Amino acid sequence: MNILLTGGAGYIGSHTCVALIEAGLTPVILDNFSNSHPAVLERLRQISGQAVVCEKGDVLDTPWVTDLLLRHEIAAVLHFAGDKAVGESVAQPLKYYRNNIGGAVSLLDAMQATDCRTLVFSSSATVYGDPASVPITEDFPRQHTNPYGHTKLVIEDMLAAMQVADASWRLGVLRYFNPVGAHPSGLIGEDPSGIPNNLMPFVAQVAIGKRPFLNVYGNDYATPDGTGVRDYIHVQDLAEGHVAALQALLEKGESFTVNLGTGRGNSVLEVVKAFEQASDQPIPYQIAPRRAGDVAQCYAETALAKALLGWSAKHSLAGMCADAWRWQSGNPDGYK
Ligand SMILES: NC(=O)c1ccc[n+]([C@@H]2O[C@H](COP(=O)([O-])OP(=O)(O)OC[C@H]3O[C@@H](n4cnc5c(N)ncnc54)[C@H](O)[C@@H]3O)[C@@H](O)[C@H]2O)c1
Repeated sequence: MNILLTGGAGYIGSHTCVALIEAGLTPVILDNFSNSHPAVLERLRQISGQAVVCEKGDVLDTPWVTDLLLRHEIAAVLHFAGDKAVGESVAQPLKYYRNNIGGAVSLLDAMQATDCRTLVFSSSATVYGDPASVPITEDFPRQHTNPYGHTKLVIEDMLAAMQVADASWRLGVLRYFNPVGAHPSGLIGEDPSGIPNNLMPFVAQVAIGKRPFLNVYGNDYATPDGTGVRDYIHVQDLAEGHVAALQALLEKGESFTVNLGTGRGNSVLEVVKAFEQASDQPIPYQIAPRRAGDVAQCYAETALAKALLGWSAKHSLAGMCADAWRWQSGNPDGYK
């Protein structure tokens, strides 16, 4: 069964490619390489022992996507393609509305035209904004604090409207918490361009000596050590979650929205300590003022994912750090 991964050359898509192959499915990657590197394809071949089909192009190009769906007889789509940097979305909102919302509209048009109605969408815990309490269940109110988060909300609403208009759509909305780590082979991983936006890639670059120290934004939050608490989930668990979501949609035919997290929160300082242990390198840090928009704690309630998908996260924080370090130390300049 051929599964299209838009943005499949990126961080989460590439790991999901491997998980799909292991599950006996055939991935087809669509990517414009705006935030990824073609070298990932050779790495995927090394890991899986088979060449992965990749079509280079833009998800905004509806006629091309329509043709691609037909040519590859695509049974279902995992939609990862999009831009994801919160700060950039504040500075360049139109880029985000065009690529993320425009990309989803284009893909759905192509899917509708070709009668391909099974879709898994990469949403985010950012749709919960500043949650009133933790753990966060899927029925918490949704809010947005930046254009990136707004695009995820709008796409979720768009998918719900499609479902109302046509009950035959099978839609899986996955709200990721904080994906980290890398494939245990050390061959694929997160390869941020420029200054990493997320904590773990930044910590990894400090550990390898590319950056002198880590800024810890705020140590006066209402958390055990005062630093922000997040639900870090191994990208391998996330990849398995996509396979489980796809299988649930194909077998049961019911749409759903679920959190993909571990249900545990770890503070910034806990991550620093775990990474020091995994890498055997010191991680110098300094306390900096809080950043606007950051919340004290954010972690998932995971019962719904377990009930609907039979899936739960397995990897520990120590394992996430060990795998992230193997990738970072083996590929100090990423794929370049
Ligand atoms: N990584 C995270 O922390 C995180 C958290 C929550 C949600 N998400 C969402 O998950 C998805 C995947 O995230 P990721 O971390 O793998 O990001 P990524 O940037 O590594 O992967 C996205 C891929 O999409 C491609 N792409 C972007 N626009 C495209 C277009 N118009 N046409 C074709 N390809 C295009 C990029 O080249 C890249 O390979 C995104 O939608 C992101 O918003 C990510």
